[in-house]
Amino acid sequence: YPRLSITRDQITMPDQAVKGKVAIIGAGDVGATTAYALMMSGSVSEIALVDIDHEKAEGEAMDLRHGAAFVKPVNIYAGDYEDAHDADVVIIAAGASQKPGETRLELLERNVDIFHDMVPRITDGLADDAVVLVVANPVDVLSYVTWKVSDLPWHRVIGTGTVLDTSRFRNVLSKNCNVDARNIHAYVIGEHGDSEVLVWSATHMAGVPFDDYCPVCDKDCDLNNRDLIADEVQGAAYEIIERKGATYYAIGLATTEIVESIIRDENSILTVSTLMDGQYGLEDVYLSLPAVVNRGGIRRVVDLDLDENEREQFIESGELLSNEIAKLDI
Ligand code: 2OP
Repeated sequence: YPRLSITRDQITMPDQAVKGKVAIIGAGDVGATTAYALMMSGSVSEIALVDIDHEKAEGEAMDLRHGAAFVKPVNIYAGDYEDAHDADVVIIAAGASQKPGETRLELLERNVDIFHDMVPRITDGLADDAVVLVVANPVDVLSYVTWKVSDLPWHRVIGTGTVLDTSRFRNVLSKNCNVDARNIHAYVIGEHGDSEVLVWSATHMAGVPFDDYCPVCDKDCDLNNRDLIADEVQGAAYEIIERKGATYYAIGLATTEIVESIIRDENSILTVSTLMDGQYGLEDVYLSLPAVVNRGGIRRVVDLDLDENEREQFIESGELLSNEIAKLDI
């Protein structure tokens, strides 16, 4: 038999030395937890934490640095806006967060003012290939605001979007169906918020469409289960905020997943928030769809073959956000 040979360019070779600087703007619960998740991931060499409360950023950086003996080398420190300028990825996690019962969109007025002032300080002087990743809520509208105010190319301004909701959906399906979440392909698209859409028609268990898998599975669920699953996914943040005041672990991991895909040029498909350019008739609005993410930001957006109901819901979600954008003075 001829020997199988694998040449260097057929496999992805991680760089020998990990390089990559991330600036995190906002050292609150989400910013600090993202720094922790990034530090544990071993995928970056430098993390600058920036906050208007510089002492808070210093305290978080010190606490994180004291874990140095347990992780791969990474330089973590409290910085300032200038630290965004030589960063590969700038994460914006600053701003007000939801109080119990408050929707994400209700934060808009407070956060849009903060963004008007903050975005130019981050993006004037940004490296030519840096990617800005917005986490603060309402993430879709604030990603749009960041893109508009900064004048950066759309593919370099990304929102965390429904990456977290997609993970929640997989987790709830995993529990419900008793299948490892890593073997479930399922997406949440649209707004990261109350109008988000669970795409049942594109849900697969190890390649088998969910509609075919479900009837022959050994569990005897009825179709109402889908509504219960949707409620659990869509209501997740409210339930957590009611109990502990904020969410930060899972969003920290979701953000880390996106940063890794950018810095390591992974071309992972993630449901990030991006500028719509005619998808399902929507444009000039940021929304989540599965997209290929790499060192350039978003390489391409994947159009899903939605059923009629999902399509309508997605368009409604986009129109709702377009209306919010129309009210802004940008
Ligand atoms: C979350 O979904 C609050 O957007 C945040 O956890």
